[in-house]
Amino acid sequence: MINFLFNGERRDIDVAPDMPLLWVIRDHLKITGTKFGCGKGLCGACTVHLDGTPVRSCVMPIAAVAGKSVTTIEGMGDSDAMTSLRHAWLEYSVPQCGYCQSGQLMAAAALLAEKPSPSDGDIDTAMTGNLCRCGTYPRIRKAIHRAAQLLAAPGERDAGNDTGADFTNFVEVKVPDAVEQAARPVPQSVPGSRSGQVSQAVPVSQPVRKSRPGQASQSGTVQPVERESLS
Ligand code: FES
Ligand code: FES
Repeated sequence: MINFLFNGERRDIDVAPDMPLLWVIRDHLKITGTKFGCGKGLCGACTVHLDGTPVRSCVMPIAAVAGKSVTTIEGMGDSDAMTSLRHAWLEYSVPQCGYCQSGQLMAAAALLAEKPSPSDGDIDTAMTGNLCRCGTYPRIRKAIHRAAQLLAAPGERDAGNDTGADFTNFVEVKVPDAVEQAARPVPQSVPGSRSGQVSQAVPVSQPVRKSRPGQASQSGTVQPVERESLS
């Protein structure tokens, strides 16, 4: 049995001592804000805090956390650092796909705890092991500087709007119906098909234009543009 503090609560876990902490967090404790990326300590997606220090939970055996305190992004709650980072992340629209962002935020929070006013060099050093396939690095750097400002002036931060955004589950965010609808292929009737009504999926990116007055089809529907006419 391995005992440790998890997001402020005592946990007793009966698993193999070499099981990675990430497996325990996601599969046994069912807390999923911490992500699996490479599984080899190379990408930072699984970053959590161990006694306040950022560590890669995918390569940290659970036995190594016995008697210590593990904090995931869920456990950061409304701490000053995380609140400032959240505001700054929103201000600079940092996330793209969002998959790496939990790890990025945990690394950034640890940096601000150590250096409340980090330089570009401090940021680059602290964040260098947190990879982002979407290339959000310039925005991350700006947002960390902004979070440092907000941390020093919480009045400015708290006077702003709180969007209530949840950064723990970017990849599970529900896509609004309107967005999902717009991304769907547009069904188009194929003339000459056996039934005359067979639908064919046409990517929404295919160039289309509305019929002009005098050229409108009887139905007034959007007509495909001949590719040659666009060249
Ligand atoms: S999943 Fe742990 S460092 Fe990549
Ligand atoms: S936002 Fe997509 S991987 Fe970082």
